[in-house]
Amino acid sequence: MGIRTRFLIMMGILSLLALIAMGWASYDFSKRAALKEAENKGTIIYNYLVAQRQFFQSDQSPLISELMEKDRFYPYLMSGFAASRKTFDYFNQAMPGFMIKYAATNPLRAANKADNDEAKIISNFKANPSQDSSSGTITKNGINFYYHAVPLKVNSKTCLTCHADPADAPKDQVEIYGTESGYHWKYGDIVASLIVYIPISEAIAQAKTTAMILLGIGAGGLLFTMFIVSIFLEKGIVSPITILNDRTEEISLGKNLDQPVSLNSNDEIATLARGIDRLRISVARMLKR
Ligand code: HEC
Repeated sequence: MGIRTRFLIMMGILSLLALIAMGWASYDFSKRAALKEAENKGTIIYNYLVAQRQFFQSDQSPLISELMEKDRFYPYLMSGFAASRKTFDYFNQAMPGFMIKYAATNPLRAANKADNDEAKIISNFKANPSQDSSSGTITKNGINFYYHAVPLKVNSKTCLTCHADPADAPKDQVEIYGTESGYHWKYGDIVASLIVYIPISEAIAQAKTTAMILLGIGAGGLLFTMFIVSIFLEKGIVSPITILNDRTEEISLGKNLDQPVSLNSNDEIATLARGIDRLRISVARMLKR
């Protein structure tokens, strides 16, 4: 195998490895950035929901209780969770893709029933009561999400009016939600989790595309560089060496001894050419003698 082929193969392999490493680093970097951004969005949405529920509990709820007839119950007027999820439905109309869920293993509202992944998140919170949040990536119906989950605890005895014995709950509530699920909660228990889902499929796909474009540009650049290097190797090294080889063979056979060996360059091969030329002169002289 010639010098040129060997050099180009080595250069190709090393550059290709560097290129793959670069593409992977770009993908990894973009993916991390996408997750970080999803985390920020999740924190904003979470804090907004908390603020909204706080407003409901501290400012609206006392007024509503004053105005309401006893034993009447309208979810959107009397449950911060119902008001919060309804507000989020409107938010979703403007910004689709995001999801929130007040997931519970034993919920009043059937749609709040935790699925398998959510039940795992809740049981993790139950097993680690000091943990105040958890997050990660999750796939739902083929879509990738970043999730931010926070435990919800029965932190006040007033929760038990509606979530303990159905006999104590407002009649309207029982009529709407039934008596099957959402009751017999205990004070201090972690019963649910607010989970905010931020879609990341698009960002991950974008990270992949960026990495592929980078790989494509790199591969194009690599091929071009290898082409230029190949021309340089041909002109600067392979062809002069072939000429010198032919001339040395001629000299060894005593042919064309009157033609000087010279190259119009000024590098190591030109030095070699001058050496061979001196050899030619010596051989010519010796033959004359
Ligand atoms: C006046 C009755 C009432 C009180 C008091 C009440 N809730 Fe609820 N809660 C409801 C209703 C009704 C829903 C269903 C809301 C909906 O339709 O989204 C609900 C839903 C929830 C949910 C979502 C899961 C599910 O069961 O559907 C959680 C979590 C929850 N409540 C926790 C609490 C906590 C914690 C407290 C005490 C701080 C509390 N609730 C006090 C009536 C009440």
